[in-house]
Amino acid sequence: MARPVTPVGILAAKLESLNRKIGVLGTVDTELKSELHQAWELATGLDPYISSCTTPESPALASLVQRTQTEDWDQRSTNNETLQPLEQEMVSGHVEGQMLKFFVHLTKAQQVLEIGMFTGYSALAMAEALPSDGVLVACEVDPFAAAFAQSCFEKSPDGHKILIKVNPALVTLKQLADTGEKFNLVFIDADKAGYIDYLNILLDSSLLAENGLICVDNTLMQGQPYLKGEPTANGAAIAAFNQAVVDDSRIEQVLLPLRDGLTLIRRI
Ligand SMILES: C[S@@+](CC[C@H](N)C(=O)[O-])C[C@H]1O[C@@H](n2cnc3c(N)ncnc32)[C@H](O)[C@@H]1O
Repeated sequence: MARPVTPVGILAAKLESLNRKIGVLGTVDTELKSELHQAWELATGLDPYISSCTTPESPALASLVQRTQTEDWDQRSTNNETLQPLEQEMVSGHVEGQMLKFFVHLTKAQQVLEIGMFTGYSALAMAEALPSDGVLVACEVDPFAAAFAQSCFEKSPDGHKILIKVNPALVTLKQLADTGEKFNLVFIDADKAGYIDYLNILLDSSLLAENGLICVDNTLMQGQPYLKGEPTANGAAIAAFNQAVVDDSRIEQVLLPLRDGLTLIRRI
């Protein structure tokens, strides 16, 4: 069972817990209980409702999610301490995948770049929206995740459009810039501490095509950038990234409250 990793998911879980605790107290006012119940329903119903109103995912994506959920990521992560621990909650999933597919259509992208692929959900979702001769270059540092994703891509009619580069993303980005590659759409979803470097290389090189769109995932980071208290390393990295984006006069941006936050950036 996946744990909640978005502001709305965490809010729904907290309201559920409060609702349960207060529900058994005979001393609490009925109106207060009823209001709390409504707040819990409002939060819990949101994500399933959005999903039910969104075009369903393809069989290949559904099967990729299922395989990701049944893999023992805990055991794999303890076997390899040099790489970031992997977990099933990293998958962007149905609604965000559908949103990314829309961006491929809207930008009429032929070349897409993904920074941080994991088991390939967002990569395959975007590849499904690419024309048959379109290409998606996916950067992934973890060889196990890369092999896992590749085996899922082989079961999809769109998987042949994806080219995986197994290396730290910054190395791959420099190589792509040196060979003059250009991308209409870039999805950043790798190590949070690397986000500022990824954005800078995209803006300082010719990697981003004219009118190119950059989408950056997890920019709400479970609410940490706006909550009081000590953030985690990822929370601090995202808060710093969001501020750097606000301060950067080369770009225009909007932070959408989709899943764990998705920032859209364009060069001006
Ligand atoms: C949040 S997951 C990506 C999820 C994926 N986009 C999806 O929607 O399913 C982050 C991935 O970035 C990879 N990663 C972390 N640091 C990286 C780096 N420096 N270069 C390339 N990939 C990296 C991790 O191994 C992990 O698989």
